[in-house]
Amino acid sequence: GNKNIQAKLVLLGDMGTGKTSLVLRFVTGKFLEYQESTIGAAFFTQVLSLNEATIKFDIWDTAGQERYHSLAPMYYRGAAAAVVVYDITSMESFVRAKKWVQELQRQANPTLIMFLAGNKADLEEKRKVGFEEGEQYAKENGLVFLETSAKTAQNVNELFYEIGKKLAKA
Ligand code: GTP
Repeated sequence: GNKNIQAKLVLLGDMGTGKTSLVLRFVTGKFLEYQESTIGAAFFTQVLSLNEATIKFDIWDTAGQERYHSLAPMYYRGAAAAVVVYDITSMESFVRAKKWVQELQRQANPTLIMFLAGNKADLEEKRKVGFEEGEQYAKENGLVFLETSAKTAQNVNELFYEIGKKLAKA
């Protein structure tokens, strides 16, 4: 039969990588060139209907600025899934993403399903992090990897569908 699942999802990653933009693309279908930096965290809900289940996402979009780092455990604690986001045009954001993965591996719920999103894939000419680099790191750490663009919507619905499918199987 069709399952009803309510799942807490958290987005983590360096400031400006596009966490809010990915969530807004998924929830509203829109993109803003001048998306304001998140203060603390923002909360969104979205329902996703799959063949196997209906998933109600409770989404915590955390603030990437370093001064908010200490708040993060409140948002990833009890989360069923996490998306760690970096910006393919910033090696620094990729380094930061790996730190988030390590923190989640140490501190989060061991059943947490983790995704790695290399966002801003539309900015190919400014790319600093190779697709293979992201893919390799994800493979080594058991993460699902996608390159996304909140701007063009590339792989954004796919990301949330993959999360939903994994949650339906869990
Ligand atoms: P914090 O709230 O500071 O942690 O940032 P964030 O990770 O939520 O990033 P946000 O969504 O605010 O996006 C930062 C900037 O990048 C905004 O100006 C967005 O318009 C832009 N941006 C986000 N996603 C993309 C994308 O896929 N492609 C391009 N070209 N720009 C993007």
